[in-house]
Amino acid sequence: MVTEKDWIKDLIIYQIYPRSFYDSNGDGIGDLPGILSKLDHLTELGVNALWLSPVYRSPNDDNGYDISGYQEIMEEFGTMEDWDRLRDGCKERGIRIIMDLVVNHSSDEHPWFIASKSSRDDPKSDYYIWRDPVDGHEPNNWASCFGGSAWEFVPERGQYYFHYFSKKQPDLNWACPELREEILGMMNWWVDKGVDGFRVDAISYLDKPQDFPDSRLPPRPDGYSFPDCLAGRPGTHAYIREMNRRVFAPRGVLTVGEVSAPTVEELTNYVRTEREEFDMAIPFVPPVVEIDTWSPEKLKSDVWESYSAMPRDGWWARFFSNHDKPRQVSLYGDDGEYWEVSAKLLAIFLHTLPGTPFVYQGEEIGMTNVYLPSIEDYDDPSTRDQYNQYILSGMEPEAALSRARLESRDNARTPMQWDGSENGGFTTGRPWLGVNPNTAEINLESQRSDPHSVYQCYRKLIALRKESGVLSRGDLKFLETGCGELIGLIRSYEGETLLIFHNFSRQEHSIPAALLEGAGEVVISSYDREGGYIGPDLRPYESVVFRI
Ligand code: GLC
Ligand code: CA
Repeated sequence: MVTEKDWIKDLIIYQIYPRSFYDSNGDGIGDLPGILSKLDHLTELGVNALWLSPVYRSPNDDNGYDISGYQEIMEEFGTMEDWDRLRDGCKERGIRIIMDLVVNHSSDEHPWFIASKSSRDDPKSDYYIWRDPVDGHEPNNWASCFGGSAWEFVPERGQYYFHYFSKKQPDLNWACPELREEILGMMNWWVDKGVDGFRVDAISYLDKPQDFPDSRLPPRPDGYSFPDCLAGRPGTHAYIREMNRRVFAPRGVLTVGEVSAPTVEELTNYVRTEREEFDMAIPFVPPVVEIDTWSPEKLKSDVWESYSAMPRDGWWARFFSNHDKPRQVSLYGDDGEYWEVSAKLLAIFLHTLPGTPFVYQGEEIGMTNVYLPSIEDYDDPSTRDQYNQYILSGMEPEAALSRARLESRDNARTPMQWDGSENGGFTTGRPWLGVNPNTAEINLESQRSDPHSVYQCYRKLIALRKESGVLSRGDLKFLETGCGELIGLIRSYEGETLLIFHNFSRQEHSIPAALLEGAGEVVISSYDREGGYIGPDLRPYESVVFRI
């Protein structure tokens, strides 16, 4: 029996990327005491859950997504006592705490890996995935997500190990029962410490095909091909159900799976109630960065597809941004002339959909992409890989850089812009990654005192969602507006109805008169600075919510 976890429907989750949130000691790196000192920001915004990107011990090849000690805290971030204080601070404020759980792989500096690679006879020999060379080279043609082969040779064992991400992130061998026991024990240990939930990283790849057949996908410019039979294998679902049976369900913890699922059907396989896997899922589907493929029409059809696939039997995570994507206002809105109204439109769109909204740090003040001067200024390994692939495919360095820049995960990782000073109030030292120079114009301090700022729009939306059930629990129906750039929808719940329109473009669009029938009080508008909705035409990036 799955227990009904109705409270998850009332969450508004704020994601913190600790390295870039707030630095308390001037070393240029965000840390746990820094987060603790800024918890009032979360309270003022109104969120009631915090997802912390990894804070475990890590050599930081992939900023904490390479863990070398699952029950330890990264030195740069502080101590376990700091974590305890943060947990207590969250509890006092009614903020649930969600930890990132990275168990597809560890760091190559984890003691398990050091033992495993030392010899085939080590007791931890099977904790990772080892294969003999085939004709003197890698066991198959698979590419790693961060470039090059997914296999790395270790002379001590005369074997290759498998790493789907960087070579400093060897994949754990879930087929090994002792390894599974260690991981499940570690998860329960964190739950004992008071964790309310897990965001489960890269979870679709746990089970591997034992024979590792070559991929039939076309090779990338470096000659290797992304695997074609790795994500979502039945064995992976079985491992997730084991986690659910032994940790999630008995302890009542919230779970958000980051899943690679190319179709809605595959996505719902992780979250439909009877599957007994996760509460909600964050899809990670290439192209993650939809620069060439995104359109308002596609957004609408994606939302409808996922909504109608499980209206009563499962739940949705709603997000535009996270630490793996460019900034939403730059990607889907307009970070120039219509910066403010388009940032508000995206917020209003997301927070009025069914599902749990996620707010990624800085999104609440409309932070934008950054344009760092050269490829060396980028820290993200996947940006460097993308750049190399473009160069290998014959692009000029300038063009390769400008494309890699648009896609870079570092866009989301530049430090939080607290105020208009040089380092955005993030640190008194030298920030680990350049602060966006637009912190002079875009920062929390100026937006807190401005009633019409992007920040105040988020506060209002979050308060609205808490006030009544229609946003969190209402039904969803899209309206036929006759224009792809104009999205119209209706939400209704227990006698309350909202009528919502969004103009996702730089042109004016008129709302068909018939659709405006019954429209009453305006609940929120992206043009509040200009006095709100005047209609019937919607101005560029105008968004309006009426009560019926
Ligand atoms: C997930 C994380 C990403 C990380 C990868 C490997 O996709 O969100 O940041 O690089 O997993 O752990
Ligand atoms: Ca610090």
